[in-house]
Amino acid sequence: MTTVLAIESSCDETAASVVVDGRRALSNVVASQQELHAETGGVVPEVAARQHLRALLPVVRQALADAECDWDRLDAIAATAGPGLPGALVVGLNAARGIAWARGLPLIPVDHLEGHVCANWLGEEEPPLPALALVVSGGHTELLLMLDHGRFERLGGTRDDAAGEAFDKVARLLDLGYPGGPPLSRLAATAEERTLRLPRAWMPGSDDFSFSGLKTAVAQRVAAEPDLPPAEVAHAFEESVADVLSRKTARVAEREGVSCLLVAGGVAANGRLREAVREASPVPVFIPPPVLCTDNAAMIGAAAFRHLDEAVAPESELDIFPTAKRRPPRAKRRRS
Ligand code: KG4
Ligand code: ZN
Repeated sequence: MTTVLAIESSCDETAASVVVDGRRALSNVVASQQELHAETGGVVPEVAARQHLRALLPVVRQALADAECDWDRLDAIAATAGPGLPGALVVGLNAARGIAWARGLPLIPVDHLEGHVCANWLGEEEPPLPALALVVSGGHTELLLMLDHGRFERLGGTRDDAAGEAFDKVARLLDLGYPGGPPLSRLAATAEERTLRLPRAWMPGSDDFSFSGLKTAVAQRVAAEPDLPPAEVAHAFEESVADVLSRKTARVAEREGVSCLLVAGGVAANGRLREAVREASPVPVFIPPPVLCTDNAAMIGAAAFRHLDEAVAPESELDIFPTAKRRPPRAKRRRS
């Protein structure tokens, strides 16, 4: 049995979790900074880093207490090393390093995006591989072929805004506050008229996505028709995002002959997207419960378990990586 204490601090959630064998989260503590960032309508990196510094140790203590876990029971410490906000990442990774050093434990730096995908291993059923993973968060929209744990091939991703970013920007346009995904989705559900149709960027011949045109279309529509009920706009926007994400992903899953589809990241908490993906997919679909879709440390512990052999000594040279490791493929894969 391998027990890992995992820490996540890549953006605006300070989180810690105790995870056993990468499959079972004994605790999952998340201190959100959302209220702090609601004042500025978005995350101010320095403010986020300083808040992580304040929140981190209480969150770690709570995670150990909730799990009824002693320091002595831990086999390793894990933390998100990237991608994310540099200052925020440094706080979490350096705290993990300090704990690992003090306890004489190995340290496992974890990729945040792989963490999101691995949240799908915290459920009862284990996803079969190879899988196609759709990671949709505030900072990323990535379509990854997952051949094995730690073996990913990037097939496509957004060329401009991330899906969550589009939700946040449109929510801002409709005056719904930050983060925009949840209130926009709640508003969309109240729409009475559902005839408004917004454009879909299909990007034919490519596995990429684009959401900035949709955001502009919303802005133009709202400016041209100020009396349009915001709920109708929210509904049409959500439909457009869910439609493109679900249908393109389903098509790629079919083409690649994967055994299942894994959806992950904050936007995977969206009810309409969950439904649309389940409807469109030709293979079994795994989506974590909403609390494991948005940023958390249980997913970091789940991913860390797959990289125990890459654990480092806390004294070793260490760095964060602010941007995604997996770059777009040089030659685009095309199928007729
Ligand atoms: O994965 P996450 O917690 O943080 C990042 O790694 O970015 O994702 C946050 C994003 C935000 O853009 C937020 O608006 C969006 O996920 N989000 C949602 C929902 N819940 C969170 N978007 C649509 N519907 C939701 N229910
Ligand atoms: Zn995330």
